[in-house]
Amino acid sequence: MKVAILGTGYVGLTTGVCFAWLGHDVVCLDTNQQKVDSLLAGKIPIYEPGLEELLAQSRHRMKFTSNYSEAVPGADVVIIAVGTPPSPDGSPDLRYLRSASEQVGQFLNSEFTVVVNKSTVPIGSGNWVESLIRGAYEKAHFVKAEGRFAVASNPEFLREGTAIADSLYPDRVVIGGDSPKALDVLRELYRPLLEQTFPEPDFLPRPDGFNSVPLVATDLASAELIKYAANAFLALKISFINEVGNLAERVGADVREVARGIGLDSRIGPRFLQSGLGWGGSCFGKDTAALIATAGEYGLAMPIVSAARDVNKRQRVRVVEKLLGELKILKGRRIALLGLAFKPDTDDLREAPAIDIARRLIQHGATVVAHDPVAEELFAKEHPDLEVALFSSAEDLFEDADAVILVTEWNDYLKLDWPALGARMRNKVVIDGRSSLDRAEMENSGFRFLTVP
Ligand SMILES: NC(=O)c1ccc[n+]([C@@H]2O[C@H](COP(=O)([O-])OP(=O)(O)OC[C@H]3O[C@@H](n4cnc5c(N)ncnc54)[C@H](O)[C@@H]3O)[C@@H](O)[C@H]2O)c1
Repeated sequence: MKVAILGTGYVGLTTGVCFAWLGHDVVCLDTNQQKVDSLLAGKIPIYEPGLEELLAQSRHRMKFTSNYSEAVPGADVVIIAVGTPPSPDGSPDLRYLRSASEQVGQFLNSEFTVVVNKSTVPIGSGNWVESLIRGAYEKAHFVKAEGRFAVASNPEFLREGTAIADSLYPDRVVIGGDSPKALDVLRELYRPLLEQTFPEPDFLPRPDGFNSVPLVATDLASAELIKYAANAFLALKISFINEVGNLAERVGADVREVARGIGLDSRIGPRFLQSGLGWGGSCFGKDTAALIATAGEYGLAMPIVSAARDVNKRQRVRVVEKLLGELKILKGRRIALLGLAFKPDTDDLREAPAIDIARRLIQHGATVVAHDPVAEELFAKEHPDLEVALFSSAEDLFEDADAVILVTEWNDYLKLDWPALGARMRNKVVIDGRSSLDRAEMENSGFRFLTVP
């Protein structure tokens, strides 16, 4: 099939490379010419393990462009994967979606094209996108658009850091639309994935026994709501364990044991029960805000989702309170942040806890130093206002530090020679913000070891 993907960010590029791997002909389009130039040179503009490798092996089926006239005409499926960042009031900023939809309408010329919303968009956006495309089509072609295209929703569930595995071996594929013909086209597009008939990449073997993927084919609004509900549920699972953790600390219980004890219940499950600094990233914050805003339009409150957001915000304050409690004075202290990215295996800094924590520590008069294996360059570019000294070696960060905070649980940090590094610190205080270090080992090495909660 001929597929056009609009937007080559974490979602668009991964989707494009994976569809090419499945055997489709893919044109990836981005309005950012720098990104397109980098892709034309075979380099990916983001950090995502394995993506550059898979791109190299799929390139013969891929084209990259910034020109809509080279992507949309002739496409069987056009996938919109542009950003939908939060506006200051929390609602998603839909200007990129609008612009992409209008350009699609202008350049559509196949007999029938399915336009797919893969971006996370407010409920009802499918109808809005349809009207924008129809308007632009009729203006450009002077004929009715009836029957030439249909809009469908295909929400994305990949996680940065494991985006390829999540795309090739997903838990489910969700498609939504009111046109049976469009849903048939999408079933065809996804067939190799649903039936797992594609060759496995050599660096990412198919999990044992994984031979099919469930398809949820539904209406437009349900597909759109599935995405928001999934993210809200995951977000509240994290906030739930953090809320329990705050109580556990007071009553002398170990939240990790509690998480293990409840997670073994198959109705609850062990994942997303790791207490700590809470979620960050481009999705949970934005999507929970959008869900609450949508409910508000219908006069509904979503108190559970709102509470999950409040608990999450509080965790970032608590880490600074813990430091204040421990060191009493933060002015003039040297505080080291291990990790800047919102989670390991990505360079994404959107809503990363490290940013908030650094800002608060600086307000308290501390000197903040930090290390991240991949996100430092982006951090310097995106946050020039924050006075954070960046180190190229995680080990050197410990020199004269009054406290080290594990903010992102990169695997390399867990393997550091902590006892030796402790000797380089002024005060041997460690705050494990990710429940990832071994308390007994740390305490035996002479650290004052704190966790959040
Ligand atoms: N990042 C994730 O983990 C993730 C997971 C699931 C869903 N999503 C959703 O997917 C969407 C994309 O997210 P992302 O993280 O890939 O965003 P991103 O910011 O990394 O990428 C968006 C890309 O779209 C490009 N763009 C903007 N306007 C355009 C236009 N008119 N035409 C073509 N390209 C245009 C931008 O230049 C950018 O490269 C969002 O709605 C997001 O909520 C993201």
